[in-house]
Amino acid sequence: MTKVAIITGSSRGIGKAIALELAAEGYTIVLNGRSEERLADTLEIIQKTQPNSISICCDVSILEGANLLISKTIETFGRLDILVNNVGISMRGHVAELNPEVFKTVFESNVLGTVYPTIPAIDHIRKTQGSIVFISSLAGIRGLPGLSAYCSSKMALRAIAESIRIEEKKNNIHVGLIFVGITDIEHNKETIAADGSKRVLASRKDKKVQSTESVAKAVYKNIRRRKFITVLTGIGRLNAFMQPRMPLIVERLILKNIHKFEEASK
Ligand SMILES: NC(=O)c1ccc[n+]([C@@H]2O[C@H](COP(=O)([O-])OP(=O)(O)OC[C@H]3O[C@@H](n4cnc5c(N)ncnc54)[C@H](OP(=O)(O)O)[C@@H]3O)[C@@H](O)[C@H]2O)c1
Repeated sequence: MTKVAIITGSSRGIGKAIALELAAEGYTIVLNGRSEERLADTLEIIQKTQPNSISICCDVSILEGANLLISKTIETFGRLDILVNNVGISMRGHVAELNPEVFKTVFESNVLGTVYPTIPAIDHIRKTQGSIVFISSLAGIRGLPGLSAYCSSKMALRAIAESIRIEEKKNNIHVGLIFVGITDIEHNKETIAADGSKRVLASRKDKKVQSTESVAKAVYKNIRRRKFITVLTGIGRLNAFMQPRMPLIVERLILKNIHKFEEASK
């Protein structure tokens, strides 16, 4: 029986690239997303490499959806080797202007949408001594202007990952935490505006961004080497080094470049 990997939010974007990478490495894939149509398109591509792969249409930020994802995977394959918690949504807006619902929506997606599938998955991953991977962001290293809910939700992933890593040491579960930099996005990717409404993000084609494929390769490398933390991009590694050692200098640099943050958050 080939090894089985679930990637939450894998009908497009970074999740889809991770699914393709793991399929190429021999894993049977369980795709996940909320749109049947997008899932069907992606499954067709994945099945060219891994014909037994399936998709499970459910919302992982809802307990029943997350439970279904894990139980249906076990029912179908009888094992689970990797869970990549990739689902996440960003937001825009300064705290003073935020509809408080923005925090609720972002935490439901990014934190509960990670914890809900992880809890029922742990027992199965203990049996395979596999991996649980959390897709964080460079925005999870320090609070950034206009991104308070997103930054704090991604910081929460670090605490969750650290707890599981210690709790499951004796069971030999690998826990990976990936700090992803600004990455190419698919057409119509949404963010949440300050008033709580959904807003389509502008294309990043003209900006210096990572490809989804390069992120996926880094995720697989993290899994293969059973590393804890992987920080992507040079600026990300510099930030991760400086933030704990000289946070006030980092703050001053951000203030000096505030226009770039405003521009990047468009
Ligand atoms: N793109 C970047 O620049 C960047 C940078 C750093 C970190 N990240 C992180 O990388 C991850 C993926 O980002 P992305 O840009 O690839 O996002 P994306 O293009 O918006 O894709 C999100 C995927 O998740 C699915 N999804 C969303 N909410 C879901 C839910 N509640 N339950 C099940 N599936 C759900 C979406 O499909 P449906 O809408 O059909 O459900 C889609 O397949 C996120 O955690 C993000 O924070 C991204």
